[in-house]
Amino acid sequence: MSKPLNLIVACAENRVIGRAGRLPFDIPEDKAWFHEKTAGTTAVLGRICYEVWKQVHADGRVPVVITSHPEIVKAGGHVAHDVPEALAIAQGLPGEIMICGGQRIYEETLPTADRILLTLVHAEVPGDTWFPEWRHLAWRETWRKESADANYRYTFSVLERAR
Ligand SMILES: NC(=O)c1ccc[n+]([C@@H]2O[C@H](COP(=O)([O-])OP(=O)(O)OC[C@H]3O[C@@H](n4cnc5c(N)ncnc54)[C@H](OP(=O)(O)O)[C@@H]3O)[C@@H](O)[C@H]2O)c1
Repeated sequence: MSKPLNLIVACAENRVIGRAGRLPFDIPEDKAWFHEKTAGTTAVLGRICYEVWKQVHADGRVPVVITSHPEIVKAGGHVAHDVPEALAIAQGLPGEIMICGGQRIYEETLPTADRILLTLVHAEVPGDTWFPEWRHLAWRETWRKESADANYRYTFSVLERAR
């Protein structure tokens, strides 16, 4: 039996997730949530995310990097050329599968995702990368926490695919 596909994302109300290769918001509580939830997992991610995320190899994470530049991936990481290859590699590794973006990877995995660990940031922010529309699919919210800092209000939620 294959392991469930989990997507983890922090997304603004207008679905923006990135700007100029970085996050479009700086929310310490969300960063802590992301690091906690991805520790010890198989993290499937694109080249830009991999190059920016300095601690990807820490905390027992095993990255599966989708790229045409295999030489950038450090020892202990895996290289895939596309999403199907990445998912096949991830299925064969121990640990939960966490899809960590970016845009194309979310677009290609959302249709078969089993769960979204969503941080919805209650703001419209400018950006150049987006999470695909998920609200038209059927989800069951199994956990939710409202929070805020000096700059943003945001909601953490776990959405399970209702099939
Ligand atoms: N808010 C969040 O939760 C969140 C999460 C993730 C990312 N982000 C943001 O999103 C931005 C990065 O995402 P991105 O979409 O620009 O880049 P990305 O997916 O991290 O990297 C893009 C590169 O990955 C490879 N790639 C990605 N999808 C592929 C596919 N389906 N098939 C084959 N190769 C693929 C290609 O690498 P090669 O060029 O090497 O072939 C492509 O140039 C940043 O701003 C980041 O902060 C935000």
